[in-house]
Amino acid sequence: MAISFRRPSLRSKFVFIPVLLFTLGFLHFIIQNQYQIKNTLSYATRPLWDAANGPKQIIPHYYAEGMNMDSHACQLHGWKERDGKDGIKVMDAVLMSSELDLLEIRMNELDSVVDHFFIIESNATFTGLSKETYFAKDRGRFSKFEKKIVYNFLPGYPLRSGESAWDVEAATRNAMTALLRTHIRTLPQNTQTLVLMSDIDEIPARHTVELLKTCDFGSSIHLQLRNFLYSFEWQLDMSSWRASVHLWRDNVYYRHSKSGDLLLADSGWHCSYCFRTIPEYIVKMKGFSHSDRIGGNMKLLDTQRIQETICRGKDIFGMLPEAYSYLDLLSQMSLEPLTSAVGLPRFLIDNAERFRFLLPGGCRRED
Ligand SMILES: *[C@@H]1O[C@H](CO)[C@@H](O)[C@H](O)[C@H]1NC(C)=O
Repeated sequence: MAISFRRPSLRSKFVFIPVLLFTLGFLHFIIQNQYQIKNTLSYATRPLWDAANGPKQIIPHYYAEGMNMDSHACQLHGWKERDGKDGIKVMDAVLMSSELDLLEIRMNELDSVVDHFFIIESNATFTGLSKETYFAKDRGRFSKFEKKIVYNFLPGYPLRSGESAWDVEAATRNAMTALLRTHIRTLPQNTQTLVLMSDIDEIPARHTVELLKTCDFGSSIHLQLRNFLYSFEWQLDMSSWRASVHLWRDNVYYRHSKSGDLLLADSGWHCSYCFRTIPEYIVKMKGFSHSDRIGGNMKLLDTQRIQETICRGKDIFGMLPEAYSYLDLLSQMSLEPLTSAVGLPRFLIDNAERFRFLLPGGCRRED
């Protein structure tokens, strides 16, 4: 039996060259798309290494239209009626973004249950880039709430060396704590004060706040919100939990993080990326916390692509959804548009024409 060592034949060169070209092309693709590939791997495996870190103890929430908020309502939630509930004050506190439409819907939803709206606005983003003061510029739109508004302008500045966006965000939240403290101190001694802590796009339902005014839920509670993307046409899940309500004490501070293990189910709405115009999407996508997701791929910022993405309910970065189980991951990859606009904020429905872009069938955005 003879073993023959042959020089590469013409035939194997025909194989070698395409394989080499393919390998080079493949490496080029990997280098060009390293951010996307890294993100896809990390998002695709998230259910294996990450767990939702929100509060675990979910309190079933009971509500029907016209329901009386009384001791029976409290009892259903395992609570007692609050002593001195008539004198209770409620403060809603938000850091201003660009989302004036959601702010208007929010303030109208909460007007009858809130005593003061605290708004802090800066002329810079957390990354220190200059930005418009949307609220100050359009304050007239909110004149009907003027007596309730406590507004504070926070001058922004470029990031100092060694300072991160997280530091600026923390400082901004501290400014809100200070503003709340100053105001609440002027109230008569022993006034019970609830503070709603959430982003503008996290809107507690009016009836939720009524329930929490009526019942003694303890010192703090998180609100589980229906989680929407782009508009109320696309519902992701119920995973939004960062909004919270606190009974104010000297040691309470304004936060957007976990403060306890209680979560009141189905307490309102969280509408992420619910913008009226395409340029707002582009600004948001360029924003700090997600800049890694663009990963140098400027095609992601194409107007036409963004528009189609919104109408199809797909991820704006062309990424996998952020989900903690494969069941959620799969269902969020192929969302079905809702045909229901039942159970949404009242002001939105009363003004459906003005807010068409937030409702089923309204996915076209203004340029
Ligand atoms: C924000 O406003 C302050 C005071 O009005 C000004 O000094 C500062 O330069 C502005 N910052 C930005 C980033 O525009």
